[in-house]
Amino acid sequence: MTLSRRNSIKVIGAGVIVAAAGAAIAVPGLDAMPATAIEGWSGPPSAERDPRRRALAFALLAPSPHNLQSWLVDLRRDGEVLLFVDGGRLLPQTDPLSRQILIGQGCFLEILSMAAAAEGWRTETELFPAGPWTVDRPVARIVFSRLTAPSIDPLFAEVPRRRTVKGRFESRPLEAAHGRALLAGMDLPGLSLSIVDEPGRVQRLRAIAIAGSELEMNTPRTHKESIDVVRIGSAEIAAHRDGISIKGPMIWMLRQFGAMTPDKAMTPGTMAWNSGRDYVLAGYASAPAFGWLASRGNDRATQVAAGRAWVRLQLAASALGVSLQPHSQALQEYPEMEALRTAMRAETGVAGDETLQMFFRLGYAADPGPSSRRALDSFLKS
Ligand SMILES: Cc1cc2nc3c(=O)[nH]c(=O)nc-3n(C[C@H](O)[C@H](O)[C@H](O)COP(=O)(O)O)c2cc1C
Repeated sequence: MTLSRRNSIKVIGAGVIVAAAGAAIAVPGLDAMPATAIEGWSGPPSAERDPRRRALAFALLAPSPHNLQSWLVDLRRDGEVLLFVDGGRLLPQTDPLSRQILIGQGCFLEILSMAAAAEGWRTETELFPAGPWTVDRPVARIVFSRLTAPSIDPLFAEVPRRRTVKGRFESRPLEAAHGRALLAGMDLPGLSLSIVDEPGRVQRLRAIAIAGSELEMNTPRTHKESIDVVRIGSAEIAAHRDGISIKGPMIWMLRQFGAMTPDKAMTPGTMAWNSGRDYVLAGYASAPAFGWLASRGNDRATQVAAGRAWVRLQLAASALGVSLQPHSQALQEYPEMEALRTAMRAETGVAGDETLQMFFRLGYAADPGPSSRRALDSFLKS
């Protein structure tokens, strides 16, 4: 092997990082998820009496694109919640039509009504009460009224346990009974759910997903949208309590060496960019099955309905011990993605006026722990 001076400096540098990382790993709790960022997962405080705030404390545990938590609520009218999209939390590059943002609203509404019912409150939800959705107009008005008794949806117990698993899955196939249970559990007017584990088809879907992720990472304006919401290390996670958290002794050590910064993560060929890509690709490589949720039509109400269905699917999967991770890249509506979006529609058999709302991998994985959530008061519209 021939080593140039530059290479040998790199190798020595990498050696120092690895050695230092070894030492850092021995430090218990170094760069761990800060407790404040996940306190929401304990549910509402027992002293909280307002049924709307109690239900909202669960609703904010819903999944959302990039964990942006783009929900804004107005509680100024008694017995009512007005839900808005937080206009400062959109994804204009990768979600130019705000389709995914509206799916995230559906996830929130589903958990809100489940939580209210579990505590004895009926919720009547009127979508788009002020007319077609814009960021200035509400997504929904939710009116609370007393039920004669609490009504507990069996999926409600999964709300604090639901996770999106972003890492590698275990190497075992999807159990047929689990696939069947997920398909049978979906009551989806206007929506359809498909799951495939046939190796040839899985391989073709995986190739499109990988190409979609690589295209997004190689398109600076779309990649930047992700990097802007990556929270690196426990201090940043605690300060933001949103976005995608990366943490732990290895990340801590790379930060000390300036190797894990937003600039580095934006630059192809750096350790930060390569490790991001390798992590994503390892996830796809480990997927034994893929699934998708499609809709007839694609109006705003349909997108909200897709969000309600998506979170119910994730909760049902959680109850079975099945992990799901969405892959949104090859579904996205920006021009550079057009060819892969068409390929994904063809491979999933989604045609005509049907829209692919969610595409995901399914498998088995250890619990990665809860993701960060902002405090309830930060969702209140003043
Ligand atoms: C509409 C929508 C699109 C999403 N797309 C992706 C995606 O492409 N890749 C991914 O890893 N997670 C995706 N997610 C999952 C979020 O990143 C996840 O919900 C968020 O980070 C919070 O984590 P949690 O679900 O474990 O609470 C998506 C979620 C929603 C609702």
